[in-house]
Amino acid sequence: MGRAGGHGPRSAAAWALLMFVCLAAWSVAAEPGPGPQAWPERIGNVSAGRFWQTLEDGGLLPTRSYPSFWRTLTAEAGRDLPGRAGVLAALGAALAAGDLRDGPHVEMLDYEGSHVLGEPQIHSVHGFQNESFDVWFLLTRTFSEAQAGAGPWDQWAIVQDKRVEPHVATFFHYAQGRPEVSNARSDCYRCHANGPRALDPARPDLVSGREYLAEVNDYCRSLVGVVTDFDGPRPDFGAALDVADCTGCHATGADRGPLHRIQAHAIRAAVARGRMPPDGPLSREGAIALEAFLRGPPEEAAP
Ligand code: HEC
Ligand code: HEC
Repeated sequence: MGRAGGHGPRSAAAWALLMFVCLAAWSVAAEPGPGPQAWPERIGNVSAGRFWQTLEDGGLLPTRSYPSFWRTLTAEAGRDLPGRAGVLAALGAALAAGDLRDGPHVEMLDYEGSHVLGEPQIHSVHGFQNESFDVWFLLTRTFSEAQAGAGPWDQWAIVQDKRVEPHVATFFHYAQGRPEVSNARSDCYRCHANGPRALDPARPDLVSGREYLAEVNDYCRSLVGVVTDFDGPRPDFGAALDVADCTGCHATGADRGPLHRIQAHAIRAAVARGRMPPDGPLSREGAIALEAFLRGPPEEAAP
């Protein structure tokens, strides 16, 4: 950068740069805020060229097609170690299987994900299986990161332990390439109330590995009663969502566990995008009750 007090062409260039930075910052600030209301415009504005270019730059364009989405783990990977030790061994076996990009994977555009809310991002999903475990990986990148050329793709993982009933999902984040058990302060539980989630491309034209979508989603929808590893007792999340349009599937004892206010973002996103409830629009009474629940109880009236 030019010196602040300089004169002549050099400082003119510095001023131009400063103006550009300010304008760029202003245009970022002028973007619509995060939240379901803004998603159609934000997603609609993503250029298809940029999407495919980002996949190519990430080495994620497939070179061939596979009969199944799932890559196989050896039967004994993690099997004989109890609890988390088994989970870690299964994760290690999946990581040792080679470059994630070598196998089948699905890439799609989404706006609801991992650590960023409301920003268009690419989700790249990979899966490994044996009898005892499912190991899922998510590589993710926002377009602003891709454009700035910043850093590698973020990497996350979910390991589902199928040796125990109900199945337990443990979450991982990669720091400096190493997996660390995550879900601190229920960070992952906010959106993954019941372990792995179905893949829901925000733009039907921007999907790579489309041939695996039905297989992955039929599988996710067939999972019943997956619980979350909280590294200790389950925190108290307060009242469970009690709206008839939802509780047939999301309640204690139903296929998916109960939903709580901590999942407000995921709930709003699922409803705004018409994904939930799956069999038709939310009733008017349901919409009102849901909104009241998400806003929380009214303040106690002062005596
Ligand atoms: C703001 C919501 C949100 C949060 C928070 C979130 N995820 Fe996800 N995640 C998603 C969605 C949505 C998908 C499904 C892919 C899609 O539709 O884009 C997903 C998919 C995944 C997948 C691929 C397997 C699957 O479920 O389909 C992994 C692995 C994953 N997330 C890991 C994590 C981890 C680890 C954390 C916590 C550190 C986390 N996620 C937090 C929204 C979230
Ligand atoms: C017919 C059963 C059914 C009904 C009714 C239903 N859901 Fe779901 N819901 C599912 C299934 C299955 C999944 C997991 C697959 C997926 O992500 O599509 C899911 C996933 C979700 C998720 C993502 C977190 C998770 O548990 O994986 C949210 C949030 C959600 N539903 C909210 C709602 C809300 C709010 C309602 C009521 C307005 C509702 N659902 C009604 C079956 C249902």
